[in-house]
Amino acid sequence: MFEKVLTQHINIPESQSIEYYLKHGGYQAFQKVLKSMSPDEVIEEVKASNLRGRGGAGFPTGVKWGFVPKDDSKPHYLLVNADESEPGTFKDRLLINGNPHLVLEGAMIASFAIRSNHSYIYIRGEFVKEARILEKAIQEAYDKGFLGKNILGTGYNLDMAVHRGAGAYICGEETGLIESLEGKRGWPRIKPPFPAIEGYQHSPTIVNNVETLACVPSIIERGASWFKSIGPEQSPGPKLYCLSGHVKRPGVYELPMGTNLKEIIYEDGGGILDDKKLKAVIPGGSSVPILRADEIDVAMDFNSLAAIGTMLGSAGTIVMHEDTCMVDALLNLLHFYRHESCGQCTPCREGTNWAEKILHKIESGHATEKDVELLGEVANHINFRTICPLGDAAAMPIQSFLKKFGDEFRAHVGVGHCPLNSRL
Ligand SMILES: Cc1cc2nc3c(=O)[nH]c(=O)nc-3n(C[C@H](O)[C@H](O)[C@H](O)COP(=O)(O)O)c2cc1C
Repeated sequence: MFEKVLTQHINIPESQSIEYYLKHGGYQAFQKVLKSMSPDEVIEEVKASNLRGRGGAGFPTGVKWGFVPKDDSKPHYLLVNADESEPGTFKDRLLINGNPHLVLEGAMIASFAIRSNHSYIYIRGEFVKEARILEKAIQEAYDKGFLGKNILGTGYNLDMAVHRGAGAYICGEETGLIESLEGKRGWPRIKPPFPAIEGYQHSPTIVNNVETLACVPSIIERGASWFKSIGPEQSPGPKLYCLSGHVKRPGVYELPMGTNLKEIIYEDGGGILDDKKLKAVIPGGSSVPILRADEIDVAMDFNSLAAIGTMLGSAGTIVMHEDTCMVDALLNLLHFYRHESCGQCTPCREGTNWAEKILHKIESGHATEKDVELLGEVANHINFRTICPLGDAAAMPIQSFLKKFGDEFRAHVGVGHCPLNSRL
């Protein structure tokens, strides 16, 4: 029987308070770490758990922490990525709202493991309420002695603060986030050097997603083998799936990693809205390749989705039924990526703009066959040609929509309107 460990207290109003969190076993893991483990032992335990980052790339968390130098004299930083702006993704917001101290405890353990005395939570600018919740939770943690100097008499010092972004998707990319935190324009950096070696203020820095960190306290408390027993061994653990679009019960579902996509849509989500036919699903947030209705009998984990040519990403599962115009859906996505392109790299800045214009022409029924071809070429010229993966995030949907629904794009050619009576 699967036991929820991230969202079990989510709908209880008092769950934001430290008293509630302590009453339900909160901060036990941090105390265990402080009193009986070395930073390296924490890293080894997280490595052994096979926890993979929930921010999108799925990089093994313990391995990333292990890259931070152990004997340097520079300060180290732990940055919590709460920028959550990927369309279709709304899980970190839920965690912050319903279980802020779990996020803080995960950040405290991570900070200890990487020998950091400073941690910032970088939160999306629009999350005003959530920033206040975190600020209050941080103050409560200071008041109870879990933050500050000489924490619980162990000699460990840790300060934590919230930094609000200004509403730019690019600042969720870890090096864009670092630049923004330094007070600069959020332009991603060329890697290497990776942040673990040279990040915030040129010092070793780990950037972790909110959900990734929320998994850490239970790994410390219950052990790596418990975590590995949930879902596939290579990418285990509890997972928050965000379900949106044409489903009867949209929402965030905490399920074992690797739960079948069909089951998530038809059982947890209650099936397709108005009992219509399913047409397509974006499984991992708007930037990952789309699946056709006949491809959804698949386990929702990193490796299983990669095997069928898509990605788990941030697990933002967007469901589209038979009435959806795929050209219109892609136009909607490209409108977002064109607006959010930071403009640093020419292929992304120009390509997203160009792609949106071509899509507009196709959707209004005024394009030629050549325009549809050109759209594919524009995407090919963006993909893998930019400093950060925002370019790929815009190109991959174009390529996959054309591959899977190319006939629908061609059916728009020369008709003078959208054949599915969509917006244009
Ligand atoms: C354009 C772009 C936006 C991103 N936005 C987010 C975000 O909002 N939240 C997040 O955790 N990761 C985001 N990422 C991924 C981060 O760069 C980074 O991989 C992640 O924060 C690492 O945390 P993890 O190892 O815990 O997954 C984004 C990446 C790109 C390319």
